[in-house]
Amino acid sequence: MTDSEIKDEGNLEPTLPFSPRVFSEHLLEWYKLAGRELPWRQTRDPYLIWLSEIMLQQTTVAAVIGYYRRFLMRFPRLTILASAPLEEVIDLWAGLGYYARARNLHATAQELVENRGGEFPQAVDELMMLPGIGRSTAGAIAALAFDQSAPILDGNVRRILCRVFALDELPRSGSADKKLWKWAESLTPQHRTHDYTQAIMDLGALICTPKSPRCDQCPVESLCLARSRNLVDMLPMKTPRKKIPTRHQLALLLVNRERCLIQRRPPNGLLGGLWEFPGFETTQEEPFAAIRQHCAGRRSISEVRLLGHARHTYSHFHLEVDFYRVDLVPYDGIAEGTEQWLPLVDLEQLPLHGAHKKLLPLIGA
Ligand code: ADE
Repeated sequence: MTDSEIKDEGNLEPTLPFSPRVFSEHLLEWYKLAGRELPWRQTRDPYLIWLSEIMLQQTTVAAVIGYYRRFLMRFPRLTILASAPLEEVIDLWAGLGYYARARNLHATAQELVENRGGEFPQAVDELMMLPGIGRSTAGAIAALAFDQSAPILDGNVRRILCRVFALDELPRSGSADKKLWKWAESLTPQHRTHDYTQAIMDLGALICTPKSPRCDQCPVESLCLARSRNLVDMLPMKTPRKKIPTRHQLALLLVNRERCLIQRRPPNGLLGGLWEFPGFETTQEEPFAAIRQHCAGRRSISEVRLLGHARHTYSHFHLEVDFYRVDLVPYDGIAEGTEQWLPLVDLEQLPLHGAHKKLLPLIGA
């Protein structure tokens, strides 16, 4: 891209290589014919829109729909969500991942009920002060619930704009971020912002996909610089994967009279409120000795057997888990603190965190 095409330094408005009106009109025409019907699209209720936007952060529409419906059956209104115990919110979220979202949802509901009479603010900067609402989510709520001309810049829109403007920078760099927000703002129309916002989301999901985009069906193909320069497959530029550490853990299926011991993690912090098998991180070479040491004084072991391994990647580390079945000499097991003895057959229903969910198929082994 040359400087004569797009100037975005200082206070100058970026000069676009095409009219934003043409862009939004093409997009809106296409959306009328090809837009998806989704459960959160027939409403302007900010509660329903906020919930869908939070669920859709880093999660696909297909994965969200069932959760969205179940969540609303249990928490049909903001006040009901605000007065529910956090554990119940987390239980309904189980399997959707990124559990900080569930904690933030609950905190936002309480904040709105306690301090704002149960009403959502309409201004983007006020929405952004609520837990779990960043600039793009705030823009989406403002546009979808209040029809304000507020831009969004989620992953899909970033990809579209990187291609339309042939941005030759890493899209997460500070300088790219500024450009992308300016372009997003310039393209967002003053009217019909609700439909425009849904339309650009659908363009990213259906046409301008990460792999094999359907450029021949794209309503803004004629405006797209990546298309005319034959750069579509190269954009957006790929951010090199960051190296993250690997942690090793032994997890234990402690079995006592057809029940196993499980424990709930504290509500705040990593994987807060989710369930897990007892376990410990170890560098010890001799796992059987480590397990005996772990149980010593509390439980008598009759047999220990390796069930298998699982690996799961969280945002900041990989977790490698060795899973052992430890049959105990039967006793009237007492569960302490957040522990519970759960019938083995009930494990499938439990909101375990991702790495330990992967252990379930090993139990029959
Ligand atoms: N992704 C984020 N928000 C969305 C919405 N409202 N519809 C479809 N996909 C989305």
